[in-house]
Amino acid sequence: MDEKLKCIESGFEQDLSGLKSISECESIRIKYLGRKGLIAELFQELAALPAEQKPLFGPRINALKNKLQQEITRKSAMFEQQPELQAGGLTAQFDITLPAVRGQLGAGHPLSLVLDEICGLFIEMGFCVVEGPEIETEYYNFEALNIPLEHPSRESFDTFYLHKKYLLRSHTSPVQVRYMEKHEPPIQIVVPGKVYRPDATDASHSFMFNQVEGLLVDKNITLAHLKGVLSVFAKKLFGPKIKTRFRPHFFPFTEPSAEMDVSCIICGGKGCRVCKQSGWLEILGSGMVHPKVLKAVKIDSKEYSGFAFGMGVERIAMLKYGVDDIRLFFENDLRFLKQFG
Ligand code: DAH
Repeated sequence: MDEKLKCIESGFEQDLSGLKSISECESIRIKYLGRKGLIAELFQELAALPAEQKPLFGPRINALKNKLQQEITRKSAMFEQQPELQAGGLTAQFDITLPAVRGQLGAGHPLSLVLDEICGLFIEMGFCVVEGPEIETEYYNFEALNIPLEHPSRESFDTFYLHKKYLLRSHTSPVQVRYMEKHEPPIQIVVPGKVYRPDATDASHSFMFNQVEGLLVDKNITLAHLKGVLSVFAKKLFGPKIKTRFRPHFFPFTEPSAEMDVSCIICGGKGCRVCKQSGWLEILGSGMVHPKVLKAVKIDSKEYSGFAFGMGVERIAMLKYGVDDIRLFFENDLRFLKQFG
């Protein structure tokens, strides 16, 4: 009896889902609930059961009968209200009275958000976005940028070597050279992209990270242009109250060179753990394009001058969003990523 009840119930569900019209509802009603229907048969069998089993199955048969009645009534009402469902074909297979399934909305990755914001700010100031290859040659990654083979400054751009002269670029600066080879000044570009260095991974180091490189070359470009553009950029990125300062530094491909600091966005310059009590945060390297770099791409350094800069995107994203471990960007834990929608 138990088997039979289950069998009738599942048969009914199948029949019900295949219904295509109101007249089919009626035939199903007769099949299950009619005078000689399957439910009536069950009641007959119930009468033949031993007395002690009757109270066990009686209520179950009644419950099933009620359920079938309700389902058939619901389905015929549906056909009555929406006659177009009866047309057959595909639409009839959908129960459009069911609540819709909500799709999950994705969110931008925090690095993409910051990368887009940085490039967007430079686009506002007239820069174009260009890209270059991640597999580079020694020439573009080093030599053309005035980083000689046996020079200690190569160590600060520690590099993954591939086959022969090929390597994974350790900065986005080689794209400067590639672009200047093919274009005459005026040049005004930013270059977002991935770079690679064989650093041991920890909270602030990753063997792969993103940089944005910038280059502007034209007649009469001076350090004042560099300071102006980068100060405006910092204020737009971190807010109008931010202060900037330029500290002399050394890069082989610029002369003079400077690092730009912004007043600490965490403590406002008073001194805290993030700025190591200094009140300042270093956010990019910059300088006037070295005449040797211009020479390598056959741009006359007597006629033209330019400035360049390079910044780490993860570092800026960490400061902006208060993230204290770079690895979080690459682990793709949804609980982390969902916060940046
Ligand atoms: N390429 C440098 C680095 O990876 C960053 C940089 C510094 C780029 C100064 C520049 C620049 O264009 O002028 O550390």
